[in-house]
Amino acid sequence: MDKSNGYEDNAATFIRCRSKGIDGVGASSVRLWARSLAPKATVLDAGCGMGLPISKALIDEGLTVYGIDASPSMVQAFKQNFPDNPVACEAAEDSVYFNRQFDAIIAWGLMFLLPVETQEVVIQKMANALHLGGKLLFTAPSQQMKWNDAITGIASVSLGAEQYKALLAASGLSLIGEFEDEGENHYYHAVKH
Ligand SMILES: C[S@@+](CC[C@H](N)C(=O)[O-])C[C@H]1O[C@@H](n2cnc3c(N)ncnc32)[C@H](O)[C@@H]1O
Repeated sequence: MDKSNGYEDNAATFIRCRSKGIDGVGASSVRLWARSLAPKATVLDAGCGMGLPISKALIDEGLTVYGIDASPSMVQAFKQNFPDNPVACEAAEDSVYFNRQFDAIIAWGLMFLLPVETQEVVIQKMANALHLGGKLLFTAPSQQMKWNDAITGIASVSLGAEQYKALLAASGLSLIGEFEDEGENHYYHAVKH
């Protein structure tokens, strides 16, 4: 069964679209966030794709980056781009990486691809895998909505800001900020208390 929610079958298309431009959408926002973390902090990039531009922004800022992605083709591309960074081909909801502890976790373009119950599970797993004071940054629309993913055509669902905030609180995380990037991607920034 495909745990990549259609991305394995569309990996070449996604990689081509995501590679457009010198600095991909979201990179500058993520770079700013990276600068708020401790030097060499350990960061898990959940749904890392090929690692460009998000993992790259984190690595360029001196952070210790681990990746997970459910698509074998994406993981292969990540390994080619970042041979020195560990990456696992696993679904976020099943990943053994969540048995470890990280200083920060990022999930860029992942959360809303997952079924609602899986989003709830993954938020709890990410919370469990953070050190106290650890940071979580993920993207999802601020509105509760459903749409078909532009790359795969598969249904995506955002739970909306109110429900994400409630889920974060129930998992031991506090929402400390929300913002949008140049591509109108909405970010949720939370800390483990
Ligand atoms: C929209 S892409 C974003 C990729 C990358 N974060 C970026 O910024 O380019 C979503 C990624 O999530 C991965 N993905 C989808 N479902 C997943 C799951 N259940 N567990 C882990 N990765 C998943 C896909 O394979 C794809 O690489």
